[in-house]
Amino acid sequence: MNELSAFENFKANVDKAAKILNIPESDYSRLKYCERELLVSVPVEMDDGTIKVFEGCRVQHSSLRGPCKGGIRYHQEVNLDETRALAGWMTFKCALANLPYGGAKGGIAVNPSELSERELEKLTRRYTLRILPFIGPNKDVPAPDVGTDPHIMDWVMDTYSSMKGYTIPGVVTGKDIEIGGSLGRNEATGRGVTTIVKEFLKINNISPADTTVVVQGLGNVGSISAKYIHELNCKIVAVSDVSGGIYNPDGLDIPSIFEHVKKRNLLSTYDKGEFKRITNEELLLTPCDILIPAALQNQITKSIAEKIQTKIIVEAANGPTTSNADEVLAKKHIPVIPDILVNAGGVIASYCEWVQNMQAMRWTVKQVNEVVQSHLIESLNLLIKTSQDYKISFREAAYVVALDRLVKAYRLRGIFP
Ligand SMILES: NC(=O)c1ccc[n+]([C@@H]2O[C@H](COP(=O)([O-])OP(=O)(O)OC[C@H]3O[C@@H](n4cnc5c(N)ncnc54)[C@H](O)[C@@H]3O)[C@@H](O)[C@H]2O)c1
Repeated sequence: MNELSAFENFKANVDKAAKILNIPESDYSRLKYCERELLVSVPVEMDDGTIKVFEGCRVQHSSLRGPCKGGIRYHQEVNLDETRALAGWMTFKCALANLPYGGAKGGIAVNPSELSERELEKLTRRYTLRILPFIGPNKDVPAPDVGTDPHIMDWVMDTYSSMKGYTIPGVVTGKDIEIGGSLGRNEATGRGVTTIVKEFLKINNISPADTTVVVQGLGNVGSISAKYIHELNCKIVAVSDVSGGIYNPDGLDIPSIFEHVKKRNLLSTYDKGEFKRITNEELLLTPCDILIPAALQNQITKSIAEKIQTKIIVEAANGPTTSNADEVLAKKHIPVIPDILVNAGGVIASYCEWVQNMQAMRWTVKQVNEVVQSHLIESLNLLIKTSQDYKISFREAAYVVALDRLVKAYRLRGIFP
């Protein structure tokens, strides 16, 4: 069977959840469409004086439960279908975490590493101008994603505020702390991944010291997850980034690797201690207890799933497992803890940042971490209970919990006009 596109896959999961809950098509069909899609072209005068036009978009999947919320991605493969799926996943992620948000996503098809700082700033400011009528603290609140970071969010905030004539920090989350960013936001997704790993091991009476872990991707999410999971006392035996992976069955020196990649160095230039270099495919097939894909979507395909040797998959990236791979993993009894739960720490901390901005308040890092942790643990427990009650997979349970909340909101709000 051919793999479904990312958005087809999202819709198939929504249909599956509706069937489990016995919800008629007319009560949830709106979730199979995006409310609004904006395609933009972004001209940039490059450092050499030439003008290059980049293509991007902003997709608002749903504003049913509150302002749309979702990241901005800079990556050469950004396209509309993938952005629709990412926006839909945000709607379900926010509903599962019980945040008062809908879902959105945006992006530009660009390789940000090929742009100078000045070009990146121009690109970001012009993109912000293009999407400006559609975003706002009560409408649609962007955040960082693959290829974007706090500094890029600072430019989004400054451009939006400059055009409105006053400072509006709540238009975007994941900003630098000095201009309204929240303590704890930058680390929240990786910390959240660690919380899920820790709780899951505790629930299953497994000691972290007896647990081997493999992490794919060493960006914001992967590197911080690796750092905290190592501190949890698990043994991380393999890690990778876009340049390839490294493996040591006795465990890798994670603090040293973290310092290396934190400075934006590729793993291919890391040369401390003992390890073997491996490809990204070999990394996914490394025998381990927990595999954490934390890079991009569609990494665990059917053919990888057939050969995979992990006991559990914890999806830190969005959409790392294809639908065909999911079926193979189910047959092999390999549980998959789904992305919309595992990486929700980022959006929960974004919510904390937005609440602080809207109220002109400052919270401590302890307050933020407590909110993130309590939302995640509550969602994990509900997901496990739902999976047991209905005898369904964790992914199906995550969609069931979220869909139930979304459909209740539709029924209460009705349809206008
Ligand atoms: N940043 C957040 O707060 C956040 C929140 C929720 C979900 N996510 C999701 O987590 C994932 C990673 O996001 P990020 O913010 O860490 O991005 P990032 O740009 O900081 O890092 C991406 C990492 O993946 C690596 N990579 C790229 N292609 C690869 C490949 N083929 N094989 C192995 N590694 C590869 C890159 O080298 C880099 O280390 C994405 O799916 C994103 O949507 C991010």
